[in-house]
Amino acid sequence: MLKTEAIDVQKLRADFPILKRKVHGKRLVYLDSAATAQKPQAVIDALVDYYSRYNSNVHRSVHTLGEEATEAYEEARAKAARFVGSSPKGLVFVRGTTEATNLVKFAWGEKNVKKGDVLVTTLMEHHSNIVPWQLLAKEKGATLKFAGLLPDGTIDMADFEKLLKESPRLVAFAHCSNVLGTINDVHAMCAKARASGATTLVDGAQSVPHMPVDVGAIGADFYAYSGHKMLGPTGIGALVAKKELLEDMDPFQGGGEMIREVFLDHATWNDVPYKFEAGTVNIADAIGLGAAIDYLNAIGMEKVREHEVRLLKYALETLSKAKGFHSYGPSDPQKRGGVVSFNLGDVHPHDLATILDEEGIAIRSGHHCAQPLMRWLNVAATSRASFHVYNSYDDVDALKAGLDKAGSIFRL
Ligand SMILES: Cc1ncc(COP(=O)(O)O)c(C=O)c1O
Repeated sequence: MLKTEAIDVQKLRADFPILKRKVHGKRLVYLDSAATAQKPQAVIDALVDYYSRYNSNVHRSVHTLGEEATEAYEEARAKAARFVGSSPKGLVFVRGTTEATNLVKFAWGEKNVKKGDVLVTTLMEHHSNIVPWQLLAKEKGATLKFAGLLPDGTIDMADFEKLLKESPRLVAFAHCSNVLGTINDVHAMCAKARASGATTLVDGAQSVPHMPVDVGAIGADFYAYSGHKMLGPTGIGALVAKKELLEDMDPFQGGGEMIREVFLDHATWNDVPYKFEAGTVNIADAIGLGAAIDYLNAIGMEKVREHEVRLLKYALETLSKAKGFHSYGPSDPQKRGGVVSFNLGDVHPHDLATILDEEGIAIRSGHHCAQPLMRWLNVAATSRASFHVYNSYDDVDALKAGLDKAGSIFRL
């Protein structure tokens, strides 16, 4: 029952120490991986190994520890780049997707966006793919426009193409929505946006952890992702871009290691990607991300995706039998990632999450950092269950039982 045919979940759960814990005396049913995923022992071990065996700064010291740390950090960069079909010179380590979009805002946007320019994003975005462009538009006297959505929660491509006729400077959109689960046709969207002369940015926070991604094939100028949503540590993520594009950009932050030479009146910059990694970098977590990537590669991202599609299909079928259940986003599991956002009658999502917590079930409730989307859905908040490799049908069954209990408490 625990097997989705793609993954032997029973076996794999043993790799995640946190899944052994109980919450309110019940088995932890963790359904909040879209917020942050749990970490396998291999990732925890990689962090402990770095701190207990070769903790040292990178790119500076010639002693043994310094060289070992530098080698491990750069090996992690190579893994993080290969994982999304990129090259190490085109991968900047950042804190996560939010820092990646802000880096682009500062280092690319301030140089390239001018008064009167148009920037385009969509109504389904996370705030981290909206607010940096609002700030940029305000600073530069540019206008930020939003492509609308169709009732099934997909992007209105006619509206998107209409906005492209305005020759936008930047077009930024999610690969996969963290609320609707919608997987956007990023290949087509990048091709169309580039044909209109725009620079493209794809937010991969909810795609890279769950499906095979090839940034080169997608054709995005910038592609961002977060390590903590893909079984890696917090505080590490990546901005992937073509080397030439990074070379043409201004630095993000000034400080140690991002320079080539410093004079009293000016400085020159290090090669990319180091030009964008000022100060002491997040060495341990980059190495931990490398371990998470090894773990996911050992399963195979095709299998991760297949597992989630099966789980999603089962979840949509099972949960829809709960009284008052209403979910958002495309109905076809092939067209969405592993998140199910829903409401249960008029039960407030926070109340529902509290009742489910009593059962050991962790879901997210709220606006999911997507307030414009909440307004479009005409709701203040939703509940959201999200999956990763350690979830199986038993978790969905537990959630269904929790929804039934909440339904009877609230007399739905
Ligand atoms: C679609 C999407 N974009 C961006 C982010 C921001 O990621 P981070 O908080 O890791 O910077 C998230 C996080 O939930 C997300 O789901």
